[in-house]
This record gives sequence, C-alpha cells and structure tokens, in this order.
Amino acid sequence: MTPHGKRAVVTGASSGLGLEFARLLAADGYHVALVARSVDALETLAGELREKFGITADVIGQDLGAHDAAARIVAAVPECDVLINNAGFASNGAFATVDAQRVDEEVAVDVVSLTQLTRAYLPGMLARGSGRILNVASTASFLPGPFMAVYYAAKAYVRSFSEALWEETRGSGVSVTCLCPGATATGFVKRARMEKSMLMNLPLADAASVASAGYRGMMHGKRMVIPGIMNRIVAWSPTLAPRRLVLWISRKLVE
Ligand SMILES: NC(=O)c1ccc[n+]([C@@H]2O[C@H](COP(=O)([O-])OP(=O)(O)OC[C@H]3O[C@@H](n4cnc5c(N)ncnc54)[C@H](OP(=O)(O)O)[C@@H]3O)[C@@H](O)[C@H]2O)c1
Repeated sequence: MTPHGKRAVVTGASSGLGLEFARLLAADGYHVALVARSVDALETLAGELREKFGITADVIGQDLGAHDAAARIVAAVPECDVLINNAGFASNGAFATVDAQRVDEEVAVDVVSLTQLTRAYLPGMLARGSGRILNVASTASFLPGPFMAVYYAAKAYVRSFSEALWEETRGSGVSVTCLCPGATATGFVKRARMEKSMLMNLPLADAASVASAGYRGMMHGKRMVIPGIMNRIVAWSPTLAPRRLVLWISRKLVE
C-alpha cells in the first residue's frame, strides 16, 4: 500500500509485539513514530520500514519511565491517527523485596505513560471524528498475581481503563481496544527474569500472530482482543472459580 499521510505512534517498538505492530502499520501505509530506549534497534527497524513501504519512520528515543515522557513524545508528534500503547515490563518477586525504583518505573511505563499519551491524543482524534487506540494489557489483567503483584495490577488498570474508554468513545469514529495476550515469545520473559516460571514454560505464542490479531481487532474497533482459545479460558475462568483457588493457581504459575 502507498503512504496515505496518516500517522501512528507505537511505544515499545524496539522489540517483540511493538516491532510487529510497526511493521503492520507501515505495510498499511501509515507514517510511524517509533518510541523506546533502544535507539539502535529503532533505527534499524525505521530503515527497514522506509525502504520496504516508502513511509516516514521517525525514531523517538525516550524512557517512558521519565516524568515528562508523554509530553516529549507529544512535542515531537503533536497529532496521530493511531496510538499503540504497547511498551511494558514486569518485575518479579515478593513485593516487599522487589527493588523500589523498579516498581516506580513499572507503574510509570505500564500505567502512567499509557494514560498520559491517551489523554494527549484522544481529544484530537475525537475532534477529527476518527482514530484508533490499542492498549496492550495481558491475560494477567483478569486475576491477581502473587510475586508479580504490580504487573498484574497494572494490567488490570489497563484493561479497565481501556474498556471504559471504548464505551465513552462509542459512535464517535474513535475506538479504544484492549489487547490481552497470553505468554508470547518476545524479550518479555528475559526482562522479567521469568525463565524458570511454569507460566513461561508453557508453549509460547508467536509475536507476529498476536500482534496481527490485536491490530485487526483495533482496526475493526473491537473492545477487546484475547488471542487464542486457551487464553480466553484463562481469562474468564477466574470469574467462576473460588478466589483462594485462583490465587493459589496464579502463585504456582509465576513462582
Ligand atoms: N510477552 C508476553 O508474554 C506478554 C504477555 C502479555 C502481555 N505482554 C505485554 O506486551 C507488551 C509488549 O511486550 P513484549 O512482550 O513485546 O516484550 P519486549 O520484547 O520485552 O518489549 C517491550 C518493549 O517495551 C519497551 N520498554 C520497556 N521499558 C521501557 C521504558 N522504560 N521506556 C521505553 N520503552 C520501554 C522496550 O524497549 P526498550 O527496552 O528499547 O526501551 C520494548 O520495545 C508489554 O506491555 C507486555 O506487558 C507481553
């Protein structure tokens, strides 16, 4: 597809799902702004996308944990037609022992930057009567996560926030979709130091297909996308099971 002048912002575009979202957007003719800290990886991706699809690809090297992260991104890209809030990471361990600074960063990246970017770009989308936002949560958003307490809670926030905005924006030409992936083969496991957890030793989904499911759902204005039948079972079964059992299973999967 040839470029059509529409613009997209993707956070966490340097690896995993974010990189795949950037490829999907560029293939559909979007000019993309790629956000993450790993500037070299972003430059490589930007070069690939420019050459293959003839679009503009801007690199924004930004730590989303910084207090002014969203403001800096919006200063660089004042308006966008598609926002994909994908960046996120998890800390792992008993909450009382997890590094306090890492907890702050986790909340800043997974919750605060996503909220601020949505607040910054949504009014323009509504004024134009068109726009798409995709917020990446997780199947972790459906239950509490002992030993990953902040991450599971952050993803519950993302899902609740996104569903509320889907309803608020219904009929406006703008949609807010929540993607809830299960365990997926990306850099996430290593970052979260979860190589030994039972959860991440189950068969992992492939990043390109998870991103594609989320992307299609976003473009169709869906409220939520949970890729894969097993993940849909994981997502909805905690609503039926006794809470103490849910907590015990959740603990065993992460430990
Ligand atoms: N993989 C899974 O099993 C899984 C399951 C459910 C949900 N998710 C969610 O999917 C999303 C994408 O993760 P992924 O699986 O693709 O993992 P990933 O390969 O580790 O990618 C994470 C991305 O987030 C960026 N990021 C992390 N901290 C950042 C910071 N402080 N500032 C700016 N960018 C930052 C990373 O870029 P830099 O390091 O270059 O900054 C990277 O591009 C996350 O929200 C994650 O919670 C993943």
